[in-house]
Amino acid sequence: MVRTNWYKDAVVYQIYPRSFKDGNGDGMGDIKGIISKLDYLKDLGITAVWLSPCYMSPNDDNGYDISDYRDIDPQFGTLDDWKEMISGMHERGIKLIMDLVVNHSSDEHEWFKESRKSKDNPYRDYYFWRKGKGKNGKKPPNTWVSRFGGSAWEYDETTREYYLHLFSKKQPDLNWDNPKVRAEVQDIVKYWLDLGVDGFRCDVITYISKTEGLPNGFLGGDNMFTHGPNIHKYLNELNEKVLSKYDCMTVGEASGVTVEQALLYTGEDRHELDTVFQFEQVEANAYFRIIPKKVNLKKTKHVFSKWQAGLYGHGWNSLYLENHDQPRCVSRYIVDNPNMDDFCRKQSAKMLATAIYFQQGTPYIYQGQEIGMTNIEFENESDHVDIMARNILGQIKKYAPFLKRFALKVLDIFSRDNARTPMQWNADENAGFSDAEPWYRVNKNYKKINVEESYADKNSVLNFFKKLISIRKGNEIIIKGEYRELYDSHKDLYVYDRDYNGAKLRVICNFKNKDVKYADSAGMAYAGQSLILSNYDTDEKYEEVKVLKPYECRVYMFT
Ligand code: GLC
Repeated sequence: MVRTNWYKDAVVYQIYPRSFKDGNGDGMGDIKGIISKLDYLKDLGITAVWLSPCYMSPNDDNGYDISDYRDIDPQFGTLDDWKEMISGMHERGIKLIMDLVVNHSSDEHEWFKESRKSKDNPYRDYYFWRKGKGKNGKKPPNTWVSRFGGSAWEYDETTREYYLHLFSKKQPDLNWDNPKVRAEVQDIVKYWLDLGVDGFRCDVITYISKTEGLPNGFLGGDNMFTHGPNIHKYLNELNEKVLSKYDCMTVGEASGVTVEQALLYTGEDRHELDTVFQFEQVEANAYFRIIPKKVNLKKTKHVFSKWQAGLYGHGWNSLYLENHDQPRCVSRYIVDNPNMDDFCRKQSAKMLATAIYFQQGTPYIYQGQEIGMTNIEFENESDHVDIMARNILGQIKKYAPFLKRFALKVLDIFSRDNARTPMQWNADENAGFSDAEPWYRVNKNYKKINVEESYADKNSVLNFFKKLISIRKGNEIIIKGEYRELYDSHKDLYVYDRDYNGAKLRVICNFKNKDVKYADSAGMAYAGQSLILSNYDTDEKYEEVKVLKPYECRVYMFT
């Protein structure tokens, strides 16, 4: 099988199905809804969709807890609907990347139902079961902390043992050390590839190998379950047995990954994954790696440049600012106010896209990012519906109630609910997302920020994205060019070049809401130049640029 590495020239759009478009009027996004928007996706110019989970699930973590890996959850439709969707995508030249969530299953998966029945059940070793510690065995087996807060262990009465769950207690971790589990995963992957899927986004894939004996470790056990001892062996096996036989791609979610580790996961001679999502760009702007702090452009640029240089010629980057777990980028990087000045919002949404998507790598656009959607205003505690936010608040109320106000403040920007509000299609009731009351509140700014309005406005974020995507397509300098950062210590400007075959692309972005001086004295010894993209109306020549306006971005091409 020839692997074409098609992902190197792809532009991926992420769909979070419950919030994209409701097709059957029950307030929940679904597959019919996606089908009704395929022409929109084609018009946008994207060439692949990453679809967040739509498998059978009790939805404790919105589908990231799967109870049947081979079927579609009825709230999203049927397998036949799914087949219609993938054909519709393929007809339009759009590939489909499915979410592969196999670090854990749902506790309602048949395997777990069997596993918890008795200590000698054939499925017992599909999961991690351990005796409790302490006199009466009522203390968790180790000090690992769940990603959603609290102990990573849950006591189960039936067999009086604990099981491991690095996420919610309804997401028990699968035991990849058991060859039967690995064979099950291989079968699942093969099943979807045979149905025509083009790739997988591998959920929390760096957690699948746990250190033998499950020792306590540091930071809630992090170093004992991230990039564990057998991870490369297991990924290599999955690649050899299944992935290598298809022209597909993989992108692994890899929180905490360094450039060096990324090369181990994705090096072409290693036959594991194709690409990873790194989180250093998020961590650079956070306390303890997760609590968001004011964005520091210098640090962020440093991370971008480190990854660009580190993977050049050896690996491949994944370019993203948003996804279903991250705040909206205009809120995170610019101003966290859903009513922010509209001009600022639009200009900064375009500038941020330019800053990230001219780098080398595969661009990922999260639904709504292309119209500059923002975070929401949380008015009540009950507005937090995401399991992560609810668990964190639960733990705080139990152990440190005096921190509640602080926690709510952090959640304003940090909460995953920010990214999960229904897609804003038009100014009608429920933003055109559904005729019924949506499963989660629509952002109140939908009358102003929506797809229909974006089509009507020639200066919209959407029209800018369309242009950017069309410039990117098949453009060798963007795909292959070498990256070099300029003015790396500048605190407001992000400037970089892409060089290829004697041509140069220069990307200039002003992250400040003010005019910033730009006096490039180096001079450019090129015959031709053109301004191929900008977010203000200008035809200034490169050498005439003296000042960049608030959130201005420009891309010059020199030949
Ligand atoms: C990943 C997903 C997130 C989910 C978690 C557990 O981080 O992106 O949404 O909650 O894995 O599956």
